[in-house]
Amino acid sequence: GTPVREILRRWAEHIGRRVMINGWVRTRRDSKAGISFVEVNDGSCLKNLQVIVDHGRDRFQEILQSLTTGASVSITGVVRRSPAKGQPVEVEAESISIVGSCDPASYPLQKKRHSFEFLREIAHLRPRTNTIGAVMRVRNSVSYAVHRFFQERGFYYIHTPIITTSDCEGAGEVFRVTAQQDPEFFGRPTYLTVSGQLQAEVYALALGKVYTFGPTFRAENSQTRRHLSEFWMIEPEMAFADLENDLALAQDFLHHVVSSVMSECDEELQFFSKFFDEKLLERLQTVAERPFEVVTYTEAISLLKKSGENFTYPAEWGCDLQAEHERYLTERVFNGPVAVIHFPRDIKPFYMKVNDDGRTVAAMDVLVAGVGEIIGGSEREYRYELLLEQMKLKGMNPEAYEWYLDLRKYGSVPHAGFGLGLERLIQFLTGVPNIRETIPFPRVPGYAFA
Ligand code: 4AD
Ligand code: MG
Repeated sequence: GTPVREILRRWAEHIGRRVMINGWVRTRRDSKAGISFVEVNDGSCLKNLQVIVDHGRDRFQEILQSLTTGASVSITGVVRRSPAKGQPVEVEAESISIVGSCDPASYPLQKKRHSFEFLREIAHLRPRTNTIGAVMRVRNSVSYAVHRFFQERGFYYIHTPIITTSDCEGAGEVFRVTAQQDPEFFGRPTYLTVSGQLQAEVYALALGKVYTFGPTFRAENSQTRRHLSEFWMIEPEMAFADLENDLALAQDFLHHVVSSVMSECDEELQFFSKFFDEKLLERLQTVAERPFEVVTYTEAISLLKKSGENFTYPAEWGCDLQAEHERYLTERVFNGPVAVIHFPRDIKPFYMKVNDDGRTVAAMDVLVAGVGEIIGGSEREYRYELLLEQMKLKGMNPEAYEWYLDLRKYGSVPHAGFGLGLERLIQFLTGVPNIRETIPFPRVPGYAFA
C-alpha cells in the first residue's frame, strides 16, 4: 500500500492514480445519495484519507455494515481532487476488503475525546488515537536525531548493561533482580540499572567519545507528571573534557534535536500547539537557536530568595532545587533554558568532581520551561584520592567499585558527560501535560500494563 502521508504530501502527483491504502476506519458517514464517506487512518500521519464508497458498486452495500470505527481495511481506488474543505484529495473506492472487523458495541475507542487517564487503561489501543500516534512519531524522530547527532561527531554507541551490580546515583532507588528459581543467580546483589554512566566512563577512557541510549529504571515513589519508573536515557561521555565542554555539547545537542524535530514533525507540532500550548512553537524556536543562560547554584539560590515568591519549600543554600524553583528560574527569570552549575557536593552523587572551594562540585542541570530538569551532568572526579574520599563520605563500599577506582589509577584523564531523559525531552517538545503519554507503555508505582 501507499502511506497516506505520501499521498497527502504530494497529492498533485497522485491525482488520477490508482492506490492501495491499508489502515483503520476512524468514522463513516452515510449520505442520502447512496454514498458513504469513510475516514481511514493508517498511522503514517495525523490526517485521515477520505474514501468515497458508492453503494451502487458491486457488493459495497453488504460490506458497508462492516465498515465501522476500528475495522482494518485494504482499499484500492483512484485519487481525485476533493470538493470538500480541508483536504486536497480523496479516494474513490473500487475494491474494499475488510481485513479485520471491529464490533462497534464493544470497541472502547469512540469518536469522542477520551481522557488520558482512560486511555492508559487501554494502553494497547491508545496508539490509535491522534495524540498518542503523533507523540510516537515525534519519539521516533527524536531517537533518530540523537543517533545522527552523535554519529556525525565521532561518538561511539555503547550498550551498557541493564542488569548491574552498581547503584550509580547512590540513592538506593534500585529494583533488585534475582532469578525466580535461584536468588543467588549472579552470586552477588544485582539491580536494574539507574544509569549507564559508570560503564560509559569505562569506554570513554578507551574509545574517547561514547554515548549510551537505553532503558533505565528507578524505584522512586514519585507520582508526579514528570517521573517514570522505566525511562530511556541518552548519556554521552567524553574523555579529555571538562564542564565547559560538557555544557557546549549539551547546547549543540539540544539545538540539533529540537531543530530536526521541528523540520521533520511539522504536522505533529502544529497539532500539539493547537491542543496543548499555543506558545509551543515559539518556545521550541528559542531552544533551537538561543544559547543557555548559565548561573551558578549559589546565584540561583539568591535569585530565588530575592524573588518574593511564596514557595512551598523555601530556597536555602544546600537544598535541592524543587520543581517550583526550576519553574521560577526558567519561566520567570530567564524565559528560556537555563544551566545551573556548581551544586553543593552534599546533594550530588559521589562521582562528581569536587571544585577547589571544597564545598561544590562541577555539576550542571539544564532546566527548561514546563518540564524543569531535562539534563543532569558533570565533570567526573578523575583524581584517585579525592574519589576515594567522596565514596567514604557517602558511606559507599570502595571495594565494590574497585574497577571504577582503577580508571583513576591507570591513565586517568579529566572527563565529563551528561544524562538526558528522552521522555522529559518529548514532554517538552510536545507539551503533553503528563510524561506517561510520552512512552508506549508507561511504568509508574502501582501501574504496569502489558
Ligand atoms: O539527573 P540524573 O539522575 O543523572 C544521572 O543519572 C547521571 N548518571 C547522568 C549522567 O551524567 N550520565 O538523570 C538524568 C536525567 C534527568 O535530568 C531527567 O531528564 C531524567 O534523566 N530522569 C527521569 N526521567 C523520567 N523519570 C524519572 N524518574 C527520571 N529520573 C531522571
Ligand atoms: Mg538530576
